[in-house]
Amino acid sequence: MAPVEVKKIRGKARSVQRAMTMMLHDQNLGSELGHIVCIGAGYVGGPTCSVIAFKCPHIQVTIVDLNQARIDAWNDPEFNLPIYEPGLVDVVKACRGRNLFFSTEVDKGIAEADLIFVSVNTPTKKSGLGAGFAADLNYIELATRRIAEVSTSSKIVVEKSTVPCRTAESMRTILEANAKPGCNFDILSNPEFLAEGTAIEDLFAPDRVLIGSLQTASGKSACESLANVYANWIPRDRILSVGLWSSELSKLAANAMLAQRISSVNALSAVCEATGANIDEVAYAIGKDSRLGSKFLKASVGFGGSCFQKDILNLVYLCESLHLPAVAKYWHAVVEMNEHQKDRFSKKVVDTMFNTITGKKIAVLGFAFKKDTGDTRESAAITLVNHFRAERAHVSIYDPEVTESTIMLDLTNYGEIPAESVQKNVKVAKTAEDACYGSNAVVIATEWDEFKTLDWQKIYDSMDKPAFVFDGRLILDREALIKIGFKVTTIGTGAL
Ligand code: UDX
Ligand code: ADP
Repeated sequence: MAPVEVKKIRGKARSVQRAMTMMLHDQNLGSELGHIVCIGAGYVGGPTCSVIAFKCPHIQVTIVDLNQARIDAWNDPEFNLPIYEPGLVDVVKACRGRNLFFSTEVDKGIAEADLIFVSVNTPTKKSGLGAGFAADLNYIELATRRIAEVSTSSKIVVEKSTVPCRTAESMRTILEANAKPGCNFDILSNPEFLAEGTAIEDLFAPDRVLIGSLQTASGKSACESLANVYANWIPRDRILSVGLWSSELSKLAANAMLAQRISSVNALSAVCEATGANIDEVAYAIGKDSRLGSKFLKASVGFGGSCFQKDILNLVYLCESLHLPAVAKYWHAVVEMNEHQKDRFSKKVVDTMFNTITGKKIAVLGFAFKKDTGDTRESAAITLVNHFRAERAHVSIYDPEVTESTIMLDLTNYGEIPAESVQKNVKVAKTAEDACYGSNAVVIATEWDEFKTLDWQKIYDSMDKPAFVFDGRLILDREALIKIGFKVTTIGTGAL
């Protein structure tokens, strides 16, 4: 077909799609929502629903959680909130007590709501079928059963947590089997695409909001009701309505594609180190191709966070369940490359320090899985410190937002390893300078901005010589450090 014809057809298809979207909006005005409840006051539910309250002063938003300590922290008079997220505290300050409430009264919240976000945790299963891969849907199921039990009126129930494809079907079955007479439930999937550290920015101006619904009149109307909420601050053309299963799969797919880019660039970082090429330059050149784009091409010690690994393993499990072993193997390789990158980096530290770090002091700067968050879930720093401990090095850790108790929980694997054995060779420092004092090497594990502006000359003077720096995040000025006298190893950069 000639390109002109293709263009014409595409243009026509677009106007048909536009007309259909408008019809959908005309026919399904959706109901006005007066009261929204969010079950789960975690990293997802807390910021998301706080922003909804902030942007929609006419809607009452209640965030409920079974965890009393977490709710107390959300209600803290000094606004010491349970999670650190730039901009979050201002949002909560503006609307807490006005139209935003935090409570442990889960049943009351459910009973009063028109729309319920289910934003509970979905950790990877530790045992049983699919252990290590599949998501543990126990919390989702318990919350769903509670909704059915407590509701005395019809509700829209929204899956917010990242769930495997077709979870909404299980939720619908549970709700329908247990609903009181006259109570109807519409299920929507509305995955979040926010990244920690930029959650508020992402919520204020998202690239897109995705809402999946059953393509029935009632499903479409529920979808429109939720779209109307977001339309209070997000342009309509960024609010996408799709089928339920597409919405669920899109979330896993988006994270898998993003993580795949990091594993690809990390795989290339090894080639750069071996050839003398520079990964930042290679990434720059690749990113100039607008078909690929410049984001998510930063080489690192490996990706972490609560989503990427979990979601890819979920996808792997889904592929296996669908009898697609080659596809499962392909996606699994993205996670394997991430493990390889962490191992490769720790090995590089040992090799560079004359093949032994036993008894040496290593300062690890950064423990969060990325900057601007205190979250350490799946952080590469945990793997690095465990490797250093296994080599019997002394490790001194500093992170501006991660508390000592969180670090200890991670390193003891939540109490599985005795704290005394970890404390024998791990210390948590109050400042970066303290962590580096008297050390043989500094390892940058998280890309906190403050590490760029440390007084590196002063740090060098306080260290044992030769003083090594291992930049696992490509944030330091390599030449400047070499000039001071450091032996510098940068991920993805061959020796100078
Ligand atoms: C991710 C997705 O970005 C978000 O859309 C989804 O909703 C949840 O999962 P998050 O885990 O908060 O968000 O952080 P993200 O910024 O994606 O970073 C994940 C990990 O990848 C971090 O450890 C980060 O340091 C690492 N990363 C990211 C790189 O190593 N290189 C990059 O170029 C980008
Ligand atoms: P995420 O990163 O997905 O937001 P979190 O673990 O940070 O996950 O938060 C999930 C929250 O959901 C936790 O605070 C947990 O206490 C809460 N939760 C889990 N199940 C229920 C339930 N049935 N009712 C109320 N809260 C729940």
